[in-house]
Amino acid sequence: MDNLLDFSEKVALITGAASGFGKSLAEELAKRGANLVLADFNEEGLTLTKQDCETLGSKVIALTGDIAEEAHSEELVKAAVDNFGKLDIAVNNAGIAPKLGPLVHLDGPTLSRQLDVNTKGVAFGLKHQLRVMAAQKEGAILNVSSMAGLGGTPMGSSYGAAKHAVIGLTKTAAVECGPINVRVNAICPFFTSTPMVDNPTMNPNDNIEEVNKNLARGCPMKRIARVEEIVNVMVMILSPANSYMNGIAIPVDGGMSAM
Ligand SMILES: NC(=O)c1ccc[n+]([C@@H]2O[C@H](COP(=O)([O-])OP(=O)(O)OC[C@H]3O[C@@H](n4cnc5c(N)ncnc54)[C@H](O)[C@@H]3O)[C@@H](O)[C@H]2O)c1
Repeated sequence: MDNLLDFSEKVALITGAASGFGKSLAEELAKRGANLVLADFNEEGLTLTKQDCETLGSKVIALTGDIAEEAHSEELVKAAVDNFGKLDIAVNNAGIAPKLGPLVHLDGPTLSRQLDVNTKGVAFGLKHQLRVMAAQKEGAILNVSSMAGLGGTPMGSSYGAAKHAVIGLTKTAAVECGPINVRVNAICPFFTSTPMVDNPTMNPNDNIEEVNKNLARGCPMKRIARVEEIVNVMVMILSPANSYMNGIAIPVDGGMSAM
C-alpha cells in the first residue's frame, strides 16, 4: 500500500465512533490496517462500528462511557496500552450540538454541557494520550473542532466557545509536545451531513433537504459537505507520511473561510 495511506501496525483511538465522522474514520483506518480502540456512549452504534471494522480485518476494543468524565479518557488510553502495547493515533471527535438560540438566551446547563463534552472531553483526552505518546516519543492527535471554532457562531454561542477552546488546546499541546515528536492538529469542518445535522429528533418537523440547502446558502460551493469529504482529510492529517504538520486548525469548508 502507498505509505501515505498505510496504517498497518498502527493503534488508533477514536471517540464518538458510533456515528458520523467517528464511525466513517474508524472504517477507513481499519481498511488501511490499523487496530482500534473505539469509544462512544451510544452502545448500539458502537457495537455496529466494531463489527464493521472487525469485518475489515481490524482488532477492535470498544468501550462505552461519557467523554466528559476524565476517568473515561484515562480508561481508553489504558485499553490501548493493555491490549496493543502502544497508542499511535488519537482522534478526539465525540461532540454534541446545543439547542440553537441567541446569546442573550444562553443558559447555564447548556453552556456547561457544551464545555464538559466538547472541551473537557478533548482536554482530558489530550492529557492522558500525551502521557503515553511522550513516553513513546511518537504520536499523532487530531482534535475535531469546527468552523464554529474559527469564527462567530450566530445562535450557537456555547458551541462556538467550546470549539474555539479546542483550537487553543490543540495549539498548546502542539507547542508543548513538538519537541517529543508528537503532532497535534485540529480539523474545522463546515456543516456536514451526519446524524448531528440531519437528526430528525433535533428538527422533527423540518424537511432536512431544505434545512441543508439553507445551511449551504452562504458557502461558495453551495452545498454542505459529505462525510467522506471530511474523513478523507482526517486520514491525510493522520497519515504516517504526514510527519511535519503540527499545531494547525484546518478548515474543510467548501471555501467559507476564503470569504
Ligand atoms: N456534522 C457537522 O456538520 C460538524 C461540523 C463541524 C464539526 N463537527 C464535529 O464533529 C464531531 C463529530 O460529529 P458528527 O457530525 O459525526 O456527529 P454525530 O452525532 O454523528 O457523532 C457524534 C458522536 O459522538 C458521540 N458522543 C456525543 N457526546 C458524547 C459523550 N459525552 N461521550 C461519548 N460519546 C459522545 C455520539 O453518541 C455520536 O456517536 C463533533 O465533535 C462535532 O461537533 C460536526
